[in-house]
Amino acid sequence: MDSGLLRALFREITIKQPFERIPEPALVMEEQQCVRSYADSGAQGQALSGTYLYHCAQMCALIKPGDVVLDIGCGPASLLLQVARLNPRAEFIGVDLSPTMLEVARESARQQRIDNVQLLADDMTRLAMIADRSVDVGISSMALHHLENLGQLEATFRNISRVLRNDRAIYLNDFGRLKSTDSVDYFVDRARDGANQETLLDYRNSLLAAFSLEEFETLAASYLGPCAKVYSTAFSPLMMVIRTPRRRCVKVMKPEFRRRYSALPASRQSDVNQLRLFLRLGGLASVF
Ligand SMILES: C[S@@+](CC[C@H](N)C(=O)[O-])C[C@H]1O[C@@H](n2cnc3c(N)ncnc32)[C@H](O)[C@@H]1O
Repeated sequence: MDSGLLRALFREITIKQPFERIPEPALVMEEQQCVRSYADSGAQGQALSGTYLYHCAQMCALIKPGDVVLDIGCGPASLLLQVARLNPRAEFIGVDLSPTMLEVARESARQQRIDNVQLLADDMTRLAMIADRSVDVGISSMALHHLENLGQLEATFRNISRVLRNDRAIYLNDFGRLKSTDSVDYFVDRARDGANQETLLDYRNSLLAAFSLEEFETLAASYLGPCAKVYSTAFSPLMMVIRTPRRRCVKVMKPEFRRRYSALPASRQSDVNQLRLFLRLGGLASVF
């Protein structure tokens, strides 16, 4: 473990209160260049590809054939399309408020010939296009910190609860707010390998805009029922996951996850390994 990481973890353990949250400068990601750059960072081998692989495997462990799966804040659908391809007998709905993101998502779905994904313009704080109790599995990745305030996060949790069927299967991941902005700078610097300036700035803005673990815990307990547990990376809540128990054995998919892992460059494999290790230490076992 490098000394910078040890210092960051020490700061995170010893400082009591997180810093004050700074909302994202672009809540809904609409600007062409920024959307393109974000979509590119999700491509195979690029900055987000290891993180996507980890969460893709976790999401698959919740999805059964015949399910309706809702991705909240799907963005360019890079992750959503991976999950949909691996679960061809489930139906997927991705919602996002950005027309530019949805355009990129639709184009990718067309190019990849994926036809079990519907992409809708909708506000996650309302989910106006989604009927009550019409969804089997709610998923979301790195999107909740794009909300302006805690009131909007609460509205989103309330609506997730409204649209889910009684079974309430959920896998939501997002960043958790760190205690010190020095730790933010450390983790952003650590991500430098293979990432461009725009991606790094976006990552920094995301960490500054993250909600705290306590805020997620309070809302999960109020709206998502006793089966939804909040996990975070050990020692510092860099990544947070809210998950209900697995509904399916993904043994048959493991060789595919391992193949995808082997195809990643070393820096992205290291992202997967760090997530596996620190989330496992935080109580969440890895799927592959
Ligand atoms: C950082 S991206 C994450 C995209 C994708 N889930 C992923 O893992 O790559 C956050 C997305 O949330 C969307 N967003 C922000 N506010 C929203 C809202 N109120 N309702 C729906 N989507 C929203 C943004 O437009 C953006 O596409």
